[in-house]
Amino acid sequence: MAEASNRGGGGGGIPAFQPTRVELDSYAAHISVDDWRSAWPPLIKKLGKDASKYVLLTDSNIDRLYGQTLLKNLKAIGLDVLYLVLPPGEQTKCRETKAMIEDWMFSHNCGRDSVVLAFGGGVMGDLCGYVASGYMRGIPFIQLPTSFLAMVDSSIGGKTGIDTPAGKNLLGAFHRPLAVLIDLSLLLTLPQRELCNGMAESIKVRRNTSTPHFLSLYPLFSFPRASILPLLPTALVGRILPQRAECLVQRAPLGRPRLGGGWGACVR
Ligand SMILES: NC(=O)c1ccc[n+]([C@@H]2O[C@H](COP(=O)([O-])OP(=O)(O)OC[C@H]3O[C@@H](n4cnc5c(N)ncnc54)[C@H](O)[C@@H]3O)[C@@H](O)[C@H]2O)c1
Repeated sequence: MAEASNRGGGGGGIPAFQPTRVELDSYAAHISVDDWRSAWPPLIKKLGKDASKYVLLTDSNIDRLYGQTLLKNLKAIGLDVLYLVLPPGEQTKCRETKAMIEDWMFSHNCGRDSVVLAFGGGVMGDLCGYVASGYMRGIPFIQLPTSFLAMVDSSIGGKTGIDTPAGKNLLGAFHRPLAVLIDLSLLLTLPQRELCNGMAESIKVRRNTSTPHFLSLYPLFSFPRASILPLLPTALVGRILPQRAECLVQRAPLGRPRLGGGWGACVR
């Protein structure tokens, strides 16, 4: 197992800061640096209350970097954890994988008191959240986002879903997570391309602002990761998630409005 060396707190590219909780409507995002090994397991246990089983789902990239360690640490505090590793990439977000996960959970006697843990990028969050939304008419899940896009966008709004041959995200459900646990140190292994992808998604929501302003954000894509990552704690805690929280609270029930800020707003 090649576990990433990603201790925060200086030298690693992401400054240490006090773990922070941002209220997001009926659930909260917990943001920290390097808490995934030690602080996440007891928090997951607390959030899961009396869950009989925890279903940890991830992709093979995250398995290689972090999954085995998280599995070991969850088991170490006495949780009954089932672990399934899926292929990475958008093609996994499909009906076939969803059915496979559901059948696998049935075969392991997962009941309504199980909790799904979606560990990975937006693909894992969308797929696993959708499985949780329908399994035995809905069981709780916790978002453990590892990509920038998942941390600032896909894990936050309660939207889950899969792709079909007719189009992307055409099947899905609104299913709010119990919580979103964000550890920024996980981003240290995210390829630059994926970091840019997440920034693009955040900037996209500003497309209705004036064109010159929108275009002025493009140079960000050539910034090296080393200069972007240190900005993230302030950006996420100070701007992105509070704005998202405001947006979530304003819309009831879950509806269409999108966050009007994001990365673009936080770097101005
Ligand atoms: N639900 C929503 O509101 C919402 C919003 C926006 C996008 N989405 C969905 O999100 C998906 C895209 O998410 P994504 O960009 O995270 O893609 P992804 O989940 O495929 O992750 C991108 C790649 O990065 C890898 N990766 C993730 N975290 C890593 C890390 N910390 N270190 C190393 N590698 C890592 C993954 O294994 C994968 O290969 C799309 O399916 C899109 O439809 C959903």
